Amino acid sequence: MPDTLSDTHPKDPPVTTTESPATLEFDHHAQHTSHNRDEVLALVREHPVFWTESYGGHWVVTSHELAKRVLRDYSVFSSRKTEDMKGGNTIPTVVGPRLIPAEADPPYHRILRKILIPKFHKRAVDALAPELETFISGVIDEAVTKDHFDVVHDIADRIPAGSMTMYLGFPEEQRVPFIRSVQAALNVMPYASDPEFAQSEAMQKGLAEFGNAVQVINDLIAARRSEPQDDLVSHLVNPDFELDDESVRWMTFTLLVGGAENPAAMIGNSLLHLAQDTALRSRLAADHSLIPQACEELLRQTSSAVSLARNVLCDVEVGGVTMHAGDRVLVWLPGANRDHRAFERPEEVDIDRSSCPHIAFGDGPHVCIGAGLFRLWFEIMLREILVKMPNYTVDLDRAERFDDASTMWGWRTMPARVS
Ligand code: HEM
Repeated sequence: MPDTLSDTHPKDPPVTTTESPATLEFDHHAQHTSHNRDEVLALVREHPVFWTESYGGHWVVTSHELAKRVLRDYSVFSSRKTEDMKGGNTIPTVVGPRLIPAEADPPYHRILRKILIPKFHKRAVDALAPELETFISGVIDEAVTKDHFDVVHDIADRIPAGSMTMYLGFPEEQRVPFIRSVQAALNVMPYASDPEFAQSEAMQKGLAEFGNAVQVINDLIAARRSEPQDDLVSHLVNPDFELDDESVRWMTFTLLVGGAENPAAMIGNSLLHLAQDTALRSRLAADHSLIPQACEELLRQTSSAVSLARNVLCDVEVGGVTMHAGDRVLVWLPGANRDHRAFERPEEVDIDRSSCPHIAFGDGPHVCIGAGLFRLWFEIMLREILVKMPNYTVDLDRAERFDDASTMWGWRTMPARVS
């Protein structure tokens, strides 16, 4: 394992051994990419792998087959973020937190994953169901009582964040302010490597919120080290695992970011789809046993998880181009999940597909550890909604998208009515 990863980007598209790589204008952070996804999908459709000059130049992989290859082969495509904040699974690198296990390579990654597995395998997740039923039912009841509600603020932001902070062990009174601090920090972190933005007031505020969030996590770790309870942070500080405070802190932070932000955006996307596709919604209301397959198809079609970056460790041929050691590569998941080579009529939400091998949760060693938990939240939530407000409507004219969907595609606000 090298101690540092080369994060220098060649100024010109690298020379290929086989054919010239296509160079496309593609910026995964741009508002245009977030707001015009179908247009961008059409642009990349015939380019399973291409080069873009954005962010110092990097490769983009958009086909289902090549995406799986990149995500599976960690010996060539590294997720690791170095001590000096190079590499990692975003472009540009998010400076600040160490998002472990996501930004670690095997064998260290395997050790961390093994520690987490007992808390995320099916039996452990199923055991949470009764508590989650009560919590989620309460959230939906509150939205119903309001009549005018916001899909994002009243449902999507509450279910994953509330469940994860509960599971990790945060005291009830700290949960909401804590999640607000995490969100405020996440809003600025992707831009920390921009020297101009780094000096801005917005950045300073974001950093202060980041400091608050880290302090709350540190306090919880200290409390659970001295008095363990039946929660996830107590599990992580188990002396058998020999994790130091820093590792526990960043694992907790990653679980929150992965377990609250992404699922919230996905819930918003899927509830919007169901408000528009009323035939599908009525079918699900009449037969709840179809919800799991609807969940998979909605993940394929509307998933919030967008791009996963890797660092190329050695020269390698991918889809007819040669990537060089030190290049960066971005797997663009919407391309892979809407790849016409892998899915018939990829643009249609069709819950009767015979198989739906989407990679909305990634693939390979870093495949999402919280996938089962998300599926449980989704199933409980949708059942509740289909019973308590089966005809809800969304006011799309007043809804606002995130402008930057580099890592997460979703909505900032989505006003709705119960009927
Ligand atoms: C709709 C919901 C979700 C989506 C779309 C999603 C997506 C993803 C994706 C694409 C990855 C792969 C990252 C990579 O390869 O670099 C990932 C990893 C991860 N996710 Fe999720 N996720 C979701 C829900 C959750 C939940 C509920 C948790 C709760 C714990 C979670 C925690 C994680 C963690 C810890 C990793 C890193 C795993 C590793 O590196 O071994 N995610 N997720």
